[in-house]
Amino acid sequence: MIVQHSQGSYEISFHSYSIANGITVTDENVAGLYPSQVPSDSIIIPAGESSKNLSTYSFICQELLKRGATRKSQLVALGGGVIGDLVGFVAATYMRGIPFVQVPTTLLAQVDSSVGGKVGIDLPEGKNLVGSFYAPQQVIVDTSFLNTLPERQLQCGLAEVIKYGWIVDPDLLKATNRHDWERFETVSRCIQLKAQVVVEDEFETKGIRVWLNFGHTIGHAIEQLTEYKVHTHGEAISIGMVIETRIAELLGFAEVGLTDQVADSLRFHGLPTKIDPDLSVDSLIRVMRLDKKSDSGELAMSLVQKAGVCQLVKNVPQQVVREALL
Ligand SMILES: NC(=O)c1ccc[n+]([C@@H]2O[C@H](COP(=O)([O-])OP(=O)(O)OC[C@H]3O[C@@H](n4cnc5c(N)ncnc54)[C@H](O)[C@@H]3O)[C@@H](O)[C@H]2O)c1
Ligand SMILES: [Zn+2]
Repeated sequence: MIVQHSQGSYEISFHSYSIANGITVTDENVAGLYPSQVPSDSIIIPAGESSKNLSTYSFICQELLKRGATRKSQLVALGGGVIGDLVGFVAATYMRGIPFVQVPTTLLAQVDSSVGGKVGIDLPEGKNLVGSFYAPQQVIVDTSFLNTLPERQLQCGLAEVIKYGWIVDPDLLKATNRHDWERFETVSRCIQLKAQVVVEDEFETKGIRVWLNFGHTIGHAIEQLTEYKVHTHGEAISIGMVIETRIAELLGFAEVGLTDQVADSLRFHGLPTKIDPDLSVDSLIRVMRLDKKSDSGELAMSLVQKAGVCQLVKNVPQQVVREALL
């Protein structure tokens, strides 16, 4: 599969991964699980979101200098979305940009973060506050990496898969509504969908890429208010998709009963569908008003009208959001 973008194109290939050319950067978990795919001169960083920061960014750049990396060197980002975003950002900026290859090893990274060219790091003030659009040379997808993924991480990726189903592809909902869902078919379908969306709207300016944000306005607010400690990203957006569909129903935008259908599709895979009642509605709304889609404090959300149809809805009244949150 080829993804065209403003600077050129890259290929997404599906095959078993050995070792790609270049300097591999990975995390400790992946290095421990896949020693034969991690060459001895690899750069290995601690696992988890807390590594997606400025100090690990500098550490990697300095390690590259020590290894004599030049403008012609290539990086291999072997890992989940944290490695992909961080190593992609190093690649975008080291010596003003060097090539990199994405080798996503989590379901979330395979179906979402490795495609589309968004790279970046977090600041203490918030997630993904520094970054760029920077396309890889190639994405290599090997679904056998998923065999070692803990159940909770698999669920996290499934939330994004189910999201694709609701926003653009109802067939995907049917295909994943079973416990023995086909991994290869599912991952390749999601990548195809993500690739179509980012090709049509590379810089999120045409109101299409924003569909991928379904569940994320509420989901991000939940993650932020619980300081990223209570829920995985997938769990937070699972709750977000249910509440945002309730908003769509209350607005008369979605057919009645859609919220229950969305909740059922997520609950089937053990994903949460209810918000913690201790979370303050005022705080949630305050955080949502800072969301990138909001315009001068007016709430905006990508809402599903019916399975496979999504739209950015602007000026969502606060009162409706409050009602849906209660
Ligand atoms: N760039 C984008 O478009 C985009 C989109 C969505 C999310 N993201 C970013 O992705 C990040 C989340 O990605 P993630 O969920 O993959 O997190 P992650 O990279 O932290 O991986 C989750 C955990 O799984 C472990 N792991 C990775 N591969 C494994 C394997 N094959 N077997 C066993 N364990 C494995 C990791 O060590 C880690 O502990 C966030 O920082 C988010 O902002 C980016
Ligand atoms: Zn997401």
